[in-house]
Amino acid sequence: MRRYPVLIVSLLFSTLLWAEETVSSQDIYTQQCSRCHKLPDASSRTFSQWQLIIDVMQHIIQIKGESPLSDAEKQQVLAHLQQRARQENTEEKNHGADVFVARCTLCHQRPEPDMLTPMQWKMIMRLMQVRMQQAGVPQLNEQEFELVQSYLIEQANQ
Ligand code: HEC
Ligand code: HEC
Repeated sequence: MRRYPVLIVSLLFSTLLWAEETVSSQDIYTQQCSRCHKLPDASSRTFSQWQLIIDVMQHIIQIKGESPLSDAEKQQVLAHLQQRARQENTEEKNHGADVFVARCTLCHQRPEPDMLTPMQWKMIMRLMQVRMQQAGVPQLNEQEFELVQSYLIEQANQ
């Protein structure tokens, strides 16, 4: 019985520590990710998609000449998103699909891959590179472009 109070104290202490950590990653997320737009809903993307999106945002911040998130802030933001991200379904265990969601839902809703033919996707992909450049959003590099384009062609309206 003498150990009982000790247990309560240590439980209380670890709960407090946990609460503090959660509050601060929430704060950093809110602070950093509502600087340029409305705070995104953490449950709108899977964690692998968030990881790609954070890198794009870091790139956008640098293009704008502002200071990017420090490594510590980035870790906090990722920790916050990891806890709240949407669960991945099996069809999404595909890197092309992740890059597609990460890069093609920044300015509008996710396009449905089967709404266009492969030929039309090829034209849209080139047009979207231009739209990204105009908006100050980094363009897809060659590898990302290939990944997204093949994913779309695979799922296209044949
Ligand atoms: C320097 C400005 C800037 C900062 C800071 C920034 N973003 Fe963005 N973000 C953009 C731009 C530019 C777009 C493209 C669409 C637009 O023009 O609003 C965008 C779009 C998005 C989108 C797609 C729109 C949506 O709400 O679903 C998400 C998701 C996103 N950002 C996540 C983040 C996250 C997470 C952070 C914090 C790490 C962040 N952004 C910080 C500039 C920024
Ligand atoms: C920088 C913002 C931005 C990003 C990122 C972006 N788009 Fe777009 N997208 C636009 C705009 C703006 C339009 C409206 C049509 C136009 O002006 O070209 C559009 C329209 C579209 C349309 C509809 C075309 C039509 O004729 O109705 C499709 C499909 C599309 N985008 C696919 C994509 C794909 C695939 C990606 C990822 C590779 C992507 N978008 C990324 C800005 C963006």
